[in-house]
Amino acid sequence: MKRPDLSKMMVGVQDLPTLPRTVLKITELVNDPKSSARDLARIITDDQVLTARLLKLVNSSFYGFPQRIATVTGAIVLLGFDAIRNLLLTTSVFDLFAHKYKKARLNQEKFWDHSLGCAVGSKVIGNHIRQDKVEELFVSGLLHDIGKIVAMMYLPEEFARVMALVTEQNILMTAAEEAVLGYTHAEIGQALAERWNLPPKLAHVIAHHHHPRAAGRFTLEAAVVHLADIFCRALNLGCGGDAKIPPLDKDAWEILRIKTSAIEPMMAEICREFEDISLFIVSSP
Ligand SMILES: [Fe+2]
Ligand SMILES: [Fe+2]
Repeated sequence: MKRPDLSKMMVGVQDLPTLPRTVLKITELVNDPKSSARDLARIITDDQVLTARLLKLVNSSFYGFPQRIATVTGAIVLLGFDAIRNLLLTTSVFDLFAHKYKKARLNQEKFWDHSLGCAVGSKVIGNHIRQDKVEELFVSGLLHDIGKIVAMMYLPEEFARVMALVTEQNILMTAAEEAVLGYTHAEIGQALAERWNLPPKLAHVIAHHHHPRAAGRFTLEAAVVHLADIFCRALNLGCGGDAKIPPLDKDAWEILRIKTSAIEPMMAEICREFEDISLFIVSSP
């Protein structure tokens, strides 16, 4: 894929918020083969808000553990390092952008519902096709459209023109972005993921969620998020900025090998899980 000229946007990206220090420390630790559950627990317990969130989430019906989990170490043992890192990344990203983005409250809620819907959708599809790293898929779904938020914050005039074009011509957001900016939120999101040093897999999925085949060795993951995006639009779970349902990418459908009879039960599952997790996110401290 040709890299578009993001120079104007990159000026803005320089002032993008960096990830909170605790999350960065956790990311480093997860990548360190010598680290133990106790090291991770120490970082989390230093942060009261994170501790409260983590315990609340592991005890929510989303995970459905039969017994109450009272300690951070217990949560780590049950969920694993990667899952913990991803969960904390999720809630931190929500916070980071909720702050600066207050003016557009109305859209914000719908946008986050779309993101959360895609996160849950990616996890449900991942489980269906027996992927083992469903937590990673969850985060990919959550962040797939993050480039839209960045554009709104740092290119407000252009973003307003994109939105006006979407409404006037009833077109997909990607088409309007191409017309106004010459690139899309997918490339912007990729730039952000790189700035945040997020794993390459995540950056690729964000970059190619509209054309999964272009994601190379991460095509399967990109195809999962692509389908989750379409499911959420069909289910009316939030709104990513346009009202149209993009065509399902044929390659993605072939790669996923999902039977058509599985679509409805999967969609029902997405709705159920979405209700559970949105309760948690909304009521986070
Ligand atoms: Fe998108
Ligand atoms: Fe989307």
